[in-house]
Amino acid sequence: MSLEHLDPWGHAMVRDYERLFKTFGIKPFKPLLSRIRNPMHLMRRGVVFGHRDYESVLDALENGDRPAIVTGFMPSGRFHFGHKMIADQLIYYQRLGFELFVPLADAEAYAVRKIPRSMVVDYALNQYVANLIALGLEKRHLHIYFQTNYEVPYYRLLQMSSRRVTGNEMEAIYGSLEPGKIVAALTQVADILHPQLEYFGGYRHVLVPVGVDQDPHIRLTRDIADRMSEIKLTRPASTYHRFMTGLDGGKMSSSRPDYAIFLDDPVEDAVRKLRRALTGGRPTVEEQRKLGGEPEKCTVYEFYLYHLVLDDAKLLELYRRCREGEMLCGECKRIASEMLASWLREHHRRLEKARDRVLEYVEPPSF
Ligand code: TRP
Ligand code: SF4
Repeated sequence: MSLEHLDPWGHAMVRDYERLFKTFGIKPFKPLLSRIRNPMHLMRRGVVFGHRDYESVLDALENGDRPAIVTGFMPSGRFHFGHKMIADQLIYYQRLGFELFVPLADAEAYAVRKIPRSMVVDYALNQYVANLIALGLEKRHLHIYFQTNYEVPYYRLLQMSSRRVTGNEMEAIYGSLEPGKIVAALTQVADILHPQLEYFGGYRHVLVPVGVDQDPHIRLTRDIADRMSEIKLTRPASTYHRFMTGLDGGKMSSSRPDYAIFLDDPVEDAVRKLRRALTGGRPTVEEQRKLGGEPEKCTVYEFYLYHLVLDDAKLLELYRRCREGEMLCGECKRIASEMLASWLREHHRRLEKARDRVLEYVEPPSF
């Protein structure tokens, strides 16, 4: 992916995160950490690395206001550990008492990924919603909805948004004027802005925690919010997290199932994939004993960092043992496999129960 042109529907990876600050005006998240009372692990560890206007969220909190959180999922495949990062952030904000709006982007999946509607709905409910519940999302302050099956004022906002942007601007942002993409992009604008409508609770700050590929949608939404004269809207804030790396070093994506771990993968399959994963190990044992491994380049370490080891002191110890050549990749993969297996076993128990309850979580419940 060229950095000049982030593509929200592409399959490429962004490696050069630093340059995003210069090219797009995304701000580094780290300087804000000291203002956040209980930062979650993805924040503490720099996985959430950038933001737009997060200060406005912190200011609102200090004034006793609760911003709304909006982040969605495009249900075009199975739920993997990359998606879990978004779920973890949603759950973090829900526990802090924020109201959550979670679009299931069926319109987007249908138009952009071109898969049949029945599959989109099946993924949305049995993969996305079920995993969110199993991961601990609760019903309070929660709105999960399908983009094509929601309340009327939301569609009116979508329609109003269409008048606030030109074809040239859309082309500059997305590099394409395919009607399906335009509709999907404007639908996402409505996703992000609608909590501010009277009908959905009224004017307030909105925060959108997303992967950095979604920034084009954020920029478009912020411009449209500024231009919407009839309704009082504030520009949404956003945070950006790094992508999860696929187990071969490429992008983790459901279209490359051998290099992604899905949350409903049978434990043996998941462990088999992890055992084959690309590490930051050296070519020979001697070299690794002498030079140490390179956890920064290691997909196994990334699993510790993003998902498996929430205790910072334990993570640091693994990091040290790798860097000092004390632990070799074989041993390390055994440790990671055990952690992953026991995490998955517990998750599968919850997932099984959650699958019976998905409709209780979706608005309107009669979808
Ligand atoms: N486009 C997002 C994706 O590809 C999904 C999405 C839809 C979304 N609406 C949203 C994300 C609103 C954040 C906010 O995964
Ligand atoms: Fe990765 Fe572990 Fe090998 Fe270090 S020892 S490079 S963390 S697999």
